[in-house]
Amino acid sequence: MIKQKKTSRKSSRAQGSSSRRGASNRVAPRRGSANDAIALLKADHRQVEEWFEQFEGTNSASRKQSLAGQICKALEVHTQIEHEIFYPAFLEATGDEDIHHEAEVEHEAAKKLIAEIEASGPDDDYYDAKVKVLSEMIKHHVNEEEKRDGMFAKARESEMDLGTLGQQLAARKAQLMGEEPDQESSASQRSRSRTNRQERGVARAARYDRTH
Ligand SMILES: [Fe+2]
Ligand SMILES: [Fe+2]
Repeated sequence: MIKQKKTSRKSSRAQGSSSRRGASNRVAPRRGSANDAIALLKADHRQVEEWFEQFEGTNSASRKQSLAGQICKALEVHTQIEHEIFYPAFLEATGDEDIHHEAEVEHEAAKKLIAEIEASGPDDDYYDAKVKVLSEMIKHHVNEEEKRDGMFAKARESEMDLGTLGQQLAARKAQLMGEEPDQESSASQRSRSRTNRQERGVARAARYDRTH
């Protein structure tokens, strides 16, 4: 099924690019908006790059640990939303298995190193080396996604609905960062404990009534 899409997409892309070259009054390729899927994913990339730089620039063990924690959490969430939402949509729209599969394999490799970093700390002799290697892996991976003819460029040329995908990515990101579930779960926990207190109060009152 994907192979069929691949053929039809390729031919439609080829037609699109030749008509772009040939017709000056053709509608310009979509540039995207400030909060579409690609803008959101690129913003994540820039944020993590900044934290990697800060990690390299500090000698404070506690600062290193907190930066590594932020980096690992952000990368876990970022790779998860790409894996769940953006990558399948990319594969569906372009049929480009080579780019898709390579990106998934790079995610898996990064996840293993992230798990090692999270399980250790600055007192580990290899801590800095692990964070450094993770930063290099991510730099390579981000370049694969953002380079000319990379995943994002091909996504822009495709029929992907980047606006809707951006909304889906943002919603899932908020959920994975614990923003929505925490609010919900803490609200429901508060409500549950309130109910339990009320029930205990009623039971205590009933016991008191029976014995007096
Ligand atoms: Fe990414
Ligand atoms: Fe990625």
